[in-house]
Amino acid sequence: MTGSPTNSFEEALESRAQAVETALARLLEQRPLDGEIARPARLLDAMRHGVLAGGKRLRPFLVMESAALFDADGEAVLRVAAALECVHCYSLIHDDLPSMDNDDIRRGKPTVHRAFDEATAILAGDALLTYAFDILADGATGLPAATRLDLVLGLARAAGIGGMVGGQMLDLDAVRVRPGEAGIVTLQAMKTGALIRYACEAGAVAGRANAADRERLAEFGSAVGLAFQLADDLLDVTGDAAQMGKATGKDHGAGKATLVALHGQDWARRQLRGLTHQARTLLEPFGKKASLLVEAASFIAERRR
Ligand code: IPE
Ligand code: IPE
Ligand code: MG
Ligand code: MG
Ligand code: MG
Repeated sequence: MTGSPTNSFEEALESRAQAVETALARLLEQRPLDGEIARPARLLDAMRHGVLAGGKRLRPFLVMESAALFDADGEAVLRVAAALECVHCYSLIHDDLPSMDNDDIRRGKPTVHRAFDEATAILAGDALLTYAFDILADGATGLPAATRLDLVLGLARAAGIGGMVGGQMLDLDAVRVRPGEAGIVTLQAMKTGALIRYACEAGAVAGRANAADRERLAEFGSAVGLAFQLADDLLDVTGDAAQMGKATGKDHGAGKATLVALHGQDWARRQLRGLTHQARTLLEPFGKKASLLVEAASFIAERRR
C-alpha cells in the first residue's frame, strides 16, 4: 500500500530510539547535578524502570525528524527529545496506577507500581515531569535561552491543565459524562494529541523555523496525534497484548468513550486513512526531506504495537 512504512523506516526508528535511550540513560545516572543534594537510589531505579528498555520512542522520533527539516543541532535536539520522552514516561507511569487504569504490564514488563510500590511510582512520575523542564532549561541544551524558554513554555502547555493532564481528567470523567464525537475528539487531542503535536512543533522550534513552518509542523502533529489515539483505541480491540506489551480489551470493559466504540472499526480505519493523507499533504512543501516523517504518519496509523 502506498505510504506504508518501509524497513528503512523501521531501521531509522530503531536507530533514533537507540540514540535517545543512550541520552536518557546518561541523564538518569546516579551522580547528582549541580544544585541537587543526592539522587535516592530507589527513586532513580523506579525512574529507570519506567523510562529505559522499552517503548517505540515515537515522540523523540518526531522531534528529531521535524528538527532535521530545519537542520537543527543534533545534540540539542536529542536533549529536547529526551525531555519529552520523560514527560511521556511519567504519563504512562501515572496512567497505569491503580487509581487510574490499574494496569500490571507496560512495555512487556511489570508497571512501575507493580515492580516497586504505588508511592514510589507516583514519585518517579513526579520526578520525571520535573526533570523534563530541567533538561530543557539547562544550558547544556545548546540552544539560545529564548529558544529554550519557548520549548519550556510549549511543553508546559502541552503537558498540563489544557493538555495531557486535562485530557486524562476528561478521559476519567468520560465514563460518567459520556461525551459525543466532538467531546471525544477534544479529550484525545488533549490526552495524547498535545504531546505529539508538541513533538513536531518542538522540532521546528529547535530548528528555529519561521512561524508558518512551525504552524505547519504543529498541524501535522495534531493530525498524527489524533491518528495515534485512534490506532491505540483500535488496537485495544484488535491488538495482540504480547506484541503491544500491555493489556488489551480494557476500554470496552471499562465503558471507555472512544471513537471506535462510537463509530466502529471500519469507520476508524477510514478516518485513519484520511488523517494519514492530511498529514502527508501538510508536509508536501518539504519534499523528499520529509519522507521519514510522512512514513511515521503511516506507521502510527497502521501500527500493530
Ligand atoms: C501509549 O503510547 C500511550 C498512549 C498515549 C496511548 P505509546 O504507544 O507511544 O507507548 P510506548 O512509548 O511505545 O510504550
Ligand atoms: C493514555 O491513554 C494516555 C496517557 C498516558 C496520557 P491510554 O490509557 O489509552 O494508554 P494505554 O492504552 O494505557 O497505553
Ligand atoms: Mg488511560
Ligand atoms: Mg492506560
Ligand atoms: Mg489505550
